[in-house]
Amino acid sequence: MDKEFEKNWRFTRDLACENSFMLPEYSDEAWETVDVPHDWAIKGPFDEKNDAEITIIDVAGGREWKMVHPGRTGGLPHVGKGFYRKKFCLSGIKGKHFRIEFDGVMSRAKVYCNGAFVTNRPNGYSSFCADVTRFVKEGENVLAVSAENLPGASRWYPGAGIYRHVRLVEEGETHVEMWGVRVSTKENTLSLRVKIANPSGKAVPLVLSVLDGSGRRVAEKTVQVLDEVRESFTLENVKKWSTEEPNLYTLVTKLKESRKETLFGFRDMVFDPHDGFFLNGKKMKFQGVCLHHDLGIIGAAVDRDVTKHRLEQLKSIGCNAIRTSHNPPDPELLDLCDQMGFLVICEAYDEWKLPKCPNGVHLYFDEWGERDLKDMIRRDANHPCVMMWSIGNEIDEQYTPDGPVMTERLCAVCHGEDPTRPVTAGLNNGDDSITGGLFDGVDVKGFNYKPYIYSLYHHTFPDAPMYASESASTISSRGEYSDYLFEEMVKKPDLQIDSFDLCNSPGATIPEHEFKGQDENPFVMGEFVWTGFDYLGEPTPYREEWPVRSSFYGIFDLCGIPKDRAFLYKSRWTKEKVLHLMPHWNWEGHAFVPVQCYTNYKTVELFVNGKSMGAKTRNVKKILGYSRLVWAHVPYEKGEIRVKALDEKGNVLEEAFIRTAGEPSAVKLEAERTGKTVFVTASIVDAEGNLCPDAADTVSFESNGKILACDGGNASSTEVFHTPFCKAFHGKCASFIRSSGPCTVKATVKREGKVITSELTIS
Ligand code: GAL
Repeated sequence: MDKEFEKNWRFTRDLACENSFMLPEYSDEAWETVDVPHDWAIKGPFDEKNDAEITIIDVAGGREWKMVHPGRTGGLPHVGKGFYRKKFCLSGIKGKHFRIEFDGVMSRAKVYCNGAFVTNRPNGYSSFCADVTRFVKEGENVLAVSAENLPGASRWYPGAGIYRHVRLVEEGETHVEMWGVRVSTKENTLSLRVKIANPSGKAVPLVLSVLDGSGRRVAEKTVQVLDEVRESFTLENVKKWSTEEPNLYTLVTKLKESRKETLFGFRDMVFDPHDGFFLNGKKMKFQGVCLHHDLGIIGAAVDRDVTKHRLEQLKSIGCNAIRTSHNPPDPELLDLCDQMGFLVICEAYDEWKLPKCPNGVHLYFDEWGERDLKDMIRRDANHPCVMMWSIGNEIDEQYTPDGPVMTERLCAVCHGEDPTRPVTAGLNNGDDSITGGLFDGVDVKGFNYKPYIYSLYHHTFPDAPMYASESASTISSRGEYSDYLFEEMVKKPDLQIDSFDLCNSPGATIPEHEFKGQDENPFVMGEFVWTGFDYLGEPTPYREEWPVRSSFYGIFDLCGIPKDRAFLYKSRWTKEKVLHLMPHWNWEGHAFVPVQCYTNYKTVELFVNGKSMGAKTRNVKKILGYSRLVWAHVPYEKGEIRVKALDEKGNVLEEAFIRTAGEPSAVKLEAERTGKTVFVTASIVDAEGNLCPDAADTVSFESNGKILACDGGNASSTEVFHTPFCKAFHGKCASFIRSSGPCTVKATVKREGKVITSELTIS
């Protein structure tokens, strides 16, 4: 990454500069200095007026009802224009090629160099390049970029500004084109194509070398190339790429003075309509999650460490696949998925020409639709992790006669760009998509929330592989419980949702319905749970309420703390033993309380203060018997609940307990380091170390590292994330701290005149 180029940009939201900000002589002295990637809206403040969705609904008798949904895109100030300027110096430019590569600008980007317009890109998720060769000069140059978010352009928080990486690339006139290297593998053969820009008109030597994972050169060839060359290498003793062993190779292309590295992997994928998915001949199921692009409390500005930490968390519960819903991802996510072993579906759109949002990307579809799709494939096709291209999510053309025609066209674009991968789409209206013919054109059928009818669809498309492109949409707030199990979605006065995982979005399900659908239909290739992490925006079921501004769908909350559901999936997705007990045991004044245990043990017995409440055995004939055991009415008595996992003879295999917590008396700090970033969880506990489940005190963090953000993961809060203090939510909160070396973190809570503090050193 071109770190220097990303530092010291100037930024303003002052519209007065709009007509002159691109001029080299414009004075940006008064502007803010920022580094990119940058998200201008994440610091807030939250406000219910920010991008509120307004729907006018016709009521009988010609009357109208105006419904205002304030938190739809997160309640942050992302709508409007922002302006960036960057000064950079060049020397010896004659005979050189210069381009600025943008991984993504949110949105409607316009790029100028030394006052001249260079290029634009409306779709904020598309990568693009500004070829500035004609515009640069010796000495100081000025790059100017404007971005603009229209209101009502998204169904979730889009972020704002230059939120992905930017690099200045300087090359000789003769050079390998951007995205000019394409590799694909079959068994132990690597096929490649390299496109070069070569104004000389004469063939030039191109050196192609293949390095294995340890950097050892395993093959090399020099070829003469005029504009494009195709070659192949067949290697011996190839180490395959898989989710368990993500072995990578490097193709090095050397052309004159420029050298380029392309990582790739050898892997064979089979999508079988009857037997499911095979990676290198081995059957596997997608244990996947859908991810929106924001990084929760960090916002939309991409961050490699935070992304990696999220993937580590997902790996820890057995997740092996990601669907980049519903847009082309940050390319760094794909680098990490290559390295860490995740399969990926790259998705292009949430809408085509028919709008889901008044100002969504449908506005640009005619002009940019195919280009955006092609560019996603050109950029991402070398990643071994990418297994399918998705042309859309629940696109509304699934209901119309235009659907099949458009599908055919977009599939043809994908196949033309990449004949090695299947094309998919995630559709929620299976019936119309089938009868209307839209699904005919798609190689692999993705169904959103249809676990009950897989066999029907299999009957309709006996030759088509299928999977759950979205599953569950179960909603919960971490640590939130009632003394009663609500089996339907119930809005609560505190604007939360219980964490018993029995509530889901309309039309969706709790996790176990999908487990059943998958188990009973082994041809289904797996599932992508909606979603891995809570995200900003879409706070279903709260539409008109404020301040609810982030989703409840995550297996992990907005700040990355696991919810109970993480253990439910872990018990299903890993071979590790799981015995996870809930809720907390502070229920003064309540007679009965429901108790749940997420487990992959067969039989578990529950005790309250040593008295047995009965043993229960998992039984997949009951929907809740898959991965959980439920004691719906347990008499409350202060003290302890304990579960014991039992073998067939009644021997105890493992125990877990929760005790009634007393007064908060300490802060427990736990840390995980990923690269230069430390993820610290603070838990407010009593004198015995029991979590205080209702503690909502403000926790102040101090560190010699840089505190990037902290939060408790409460979806119904207007606290901003970048201050070094936040309210604990159900006793916990988390902080991201940047520090390349060892660092200390101190957390302090002031409570009724007492100061509770704790310190941790992280190596
Ligand atoms: C799906 C949709 C997702 C998300 C989800 C919430 O239908 O594809 O983007 O909105 O519902 O349940």
